[in-house]
Amino acid sequence: MSEESAQELRNRQAKFTSELHGEEIGSKSGLKALLSKNKAAQQQAVAKYLRHWDGKTDEEAEQRRLEDYNEATHSYYNVVTDFYEYGWGSSFHFSRFYAGESFTASVARHEHFLAYKAGIKAGDLVLDVGCGVGGPAREIARFTGANVIGLNNNDYQIAKAKYYAKKANLAGQLDFVKGDFMNINFEPATFDKVYAIEATCHAPKLEGVYGEIYKVLKPGGVFAVYEWVMTDKYDENNPEHRKIAYEIELGDGIPKMFPAEVARKALKTVGFEILHDEDLADNDDPVPWYYPLTGEWKYVQTVSDLATFFRTSYLGRMFTTTMVTVMEKVGIAPKGSRDVTLALEEAAVGLVAGGRSKLFTPMMLFVAKKPEN
Ligand SMILES: C[S@@+](CC[C@H](N)C(=O)[O-])C[C@H]1O[C@@H](n2cnc3c(N)ncnc32)[C@H](O)[C@@H]1O
Repeated sequence: MSEESAQELRNRQAKFTSELHGEEIGSKSGLKALLSKNKAAQQQAVAKYLRHWDGKTDEEAEQRRLEDYNEATHSYYNVVTDFYEYGWGSSFHFSRFYAGESFTASVARHEHFLAYKAGIKAGDLVLDVGCGVGGPAREIARFTGANVIGLNNNDYQIAKAKYYAKKANLAGQLDFVKGDFMNINFEPATFDKVYAIEATCHAPKLEGVYGEIYKVLKPGGVFAVYEWVMTDKYDENNPEHRKIAYEIELGDGIPKMFPAEVARKALKTVGFEILHDEDLADNDDPVPWYYPLTGEWKYVQTVSDLATFFRTSYLGRMFTTTMVTVMEKVGIAPKGSRDVTLALEEAAVGLVAGGRSKLFTPMMLFVAKKPEN
């Protein structure tokens, strides 16, 4: 893409974001934010996201999704961010659970662990690639004392991340900028550390995003990532396996789910030395990472998790879909809101099936170093 058209795309996306989300962008969340959207713009955003996920998994369909990764993902997060915050909180990722550990403690521990593996320390300048609404950046800044810049191609999420950072008195340690991780607009060798949590799976080609991260890291700098990949058990030619991958792609706005080996090779191809390579989901944890998406109450660990679990469980999701369907019918919620909840439902089904069968992991941990020379 030429410089000019990249700039045009940024301007158009920024303009669309203010049209869609309206005044006080960033300060409203959950259902309140959903109900205050511009209805026509919301319908357009839903259509833009769903037009590529038409049930097809042939080469031509995949190519379309890969080519339109930027707009498709931007549209996806324009329409799902409020649902994510309502159901999950402000860190948009999975985590492991100890017996007795609350949902919020487990989410924070997963972030601390990544910061620890990356060796992030006070005073480091760190890039968070695909930063969401800044939940992990806030936690990692507090935990380590580092300065974190969040990179995101979604304007709505950036506005929210800035709002929350200010509210948490962390604006001095945090910044959030608009950008496409396939073309990172920082000088080479800027950052001491880079991390990415469940975000680089939106890349059409992993060499692209990993190569950009390599470029902006200082020599000797470390990149740590929780990658979403299909595991070595995955067989692309097995229709049952492909169905699970497609449900995850559709419901999570991902152009193409890649196998772990593709990610591993991509890291090496762009020049990284891999220091740690481990699927954190491949374990015998008594409480599985995907438990919040199941309807299995036996896994709920603390009373404080009941509300979260209700919203994210099958029953809670049906409740939300029914509520959103009714609100859409009577004209309170914008058209397309129901389609979004249905796509998110497909994602949940695919994620649980992928988790149970160990065909999929959301926490393939790679810690990789840019050599000194
Ligand atoms: C599942 S969310 C994870 C967010 C965050 N890491 C967290 O754990 O809360 C994926 C994030 O990647 C961002 N993203 C997707 N494609 C991107 C791109 N091409 N450039 C920059 N960010 C992107 C999305 O906007 C979203 O914030």
